[in-house]
Amino acid sequence: MPRLTYRFFGGTALYPKIKALGHYPDYLWWVLRGKPVRSPHLLKQKTVLAYGKKHQLRTLVETGTYHGEMVHAALGHFDRIYSIELNPEWAAFAHRRFARHPEVHIVEGSSQQKVPEVLAGINEPSLFWLDAAYYGSGAQGGNITRLLAELQAILSHHVRGHVVLMDDARTFTGTGVDGAMTAAQLAAKIEREFPGRKVVIERDIFRITRR
Ligand SMILES: C[S@@+](CC[C@H](N)C(=O)[O-])C[C@H]1O[C@@H](n2cnc3c(N)ncnc32)[C@H](O)[C@@H]1O
Repeated sequence: MPRLTYRFFGGTALYPKIKALGHYPDYLWWVLRGKPVRSPHLLKQKTVLAYGKKHQLRTLVETGTYHGEMVHAALGHFDRIYSIELNPEWAAFAHRRFARHPEVHIVEGSSQQKVPEVLAGINEPSLFWLDAAYYGSGAQGGNITRLLAELQAILSHHVRGHVVLMDDARTFTGTGVDGAMTAAQLAAKIEREFPGRKVVIERDIFRITRR
């Protein structure tokens, strides 16, 4: 459905409005189904904005721009927004969509390479929304090397106090190959390797904050 909407309205000013309208029925449908683990985008948006506000973070770094829904939701709530996208088509679309917003920086490339590059220009505690399909088809375990590399870069950065939100905790099933682990195992690993950090998993989102 999102691809269909993009196909017909992608280049038009209507597109963001149509996408935004869809978030409310999506949320209602989720409530009617008894709030299953996989949460609607509106809830993710509220979570990102709430963490930014609570921790007084003025910079948002997102991995995985896709159609720019989170960037759009974040407008007006952050002074700087970086969003990293691997797919050149989505990156070009986001460039066009946010061309009038100088605070938005769409960075094309793989998050594993681009997160350290973005971090190099950051000098204040920031909010990270990691959502670049780390698990996707690798939901049965997959290869989480890229995710671990990005977490390492963020949590060992010279600026302390970055807050990390990471989507799709449910996909950490602990099965499969390539260093598969459960969500609880990943949380424990982060807390073990970064003793100053606390990890809470709620509504399918890992929330990594300072103790
Ligand atoms: C779930 S969508 C992101 C949704 C978006 N964060 C939001 O909240 O609206 C995942 C996106 O990650 C992108 N992606 C996949 N691998 C990536 C990588 N290695 N680096 C950056 N982006 C990647 C995909 O192309 C896709 O656009």
